[in-house]
Amino acid sequence: MKEVVNNSWSTGNTSADIVIVLMIITSIMVLGVAILMLKVIKFYVKETINPVPFATPEEREIRKLEAEALRALEKKKPTIWTKLMQLKPLEEEGSLVMEHKFDGISELNNPTPAWFMVLFYGTIIFGIGYFLNYHVFHYGKLQDEEYVAEIEKAADDKVAFLSNPVNSASAVNENNIVQSKDAAVLKNGQALFATRCPPCHGEQGQGLVGPNLTDEYWLHGGKIKDVFKTIKYGVPEKGMISWEKSMSARQIADIANYVLSIQGTKPADPKAPQGNKE
Ligand code: HEC
Repeated sequence: MKEVVNNSWSTGNTSADIVIVLMIITSIMVLGVAILMLKVIKFYVKETINPVPFATPEEREIRKLEAEALRALEKKKPTIWTKLMQLKPLEEEGSLVMEHKFDGISELNNPTPAWFMVLFYGTIIFGIGYFLNYHVFHYGKLQDEEYVAEIEKAADDKVAFLSNPVNSASAVNENNIVQSKDAAVLKNGQALFATRCPPCHGEQGQGLVGPNLTDEYWLHGGKIKDVFKTIKYGVPEKGMISWEKSMSARQIADIANYVLSIQGTKPADPKAPQGNKE
């Protein structure tokens, strides 16, 4: 059963959206300031507990040298990027030069990058797994087997659906329906009506695009059997939807009973009569 979902994002509740976006931006800014403040406080506390004395020029020189040595060491270590690409540093390229030369241009024998080899062997391993799964051990279903299984499941579902008396074709149809004034039926019918029919027939059934359902004039008959039939099959060429596929026979019956129950309610702003008086 499909329910009409009122989604405030899609119905363009723009001012609320703007407020939310502004609130998010503000909270991000507050977060940034808080982090900054925290850092300042941390630095301040550290300095009060354990102040770092101002360095003399000699000490500063030593620190600079130390930092440079550290940086030089770091440069030696290959980065993840060079490892992944299996690049040789420029200084070591000499060992890669191949024997031949064309017009004085020599070629380097760079190894195939690691990422490529991982992908390459990965596809082979995947292929073996795929082959074993689908063609040797048949754990996985091939497309046509999947299709057959889905069709079988749908057939089972259909049997289960129809064995439920609420849905079975013999439950209610346009030939055996009798009008009911049962409060539960009308209440259910009203709820179903409220979510599906007002766009065309109005909240009170007073008629909009579709005809007024509260007057005694009917285009397609005002007996319970007629109303049931109109709702079930619709009048597609005139814009009245067929509800057969989206509602059970029982639901259509409840709605039809509800439609008859609002006869003569005289809502405000009624649409002019259409059809024959009954
Ligand atoms: C998309 C618009 C639309 C929706 C939604 C719609 N209808 Fe209709 N309906 C119409 C139109 C248009 C007609 C007139 C058809 C014609 O001119 O023959 C109509 C006709 C009818 C009639 C026949 C009236 C008569 O005078 O004989 C009934 C009963 C009816 N609708 C019930 C419903 C119910 C119940 C629902 C909700 C489940 C519903 N309709 C939803 C457009 C709609």
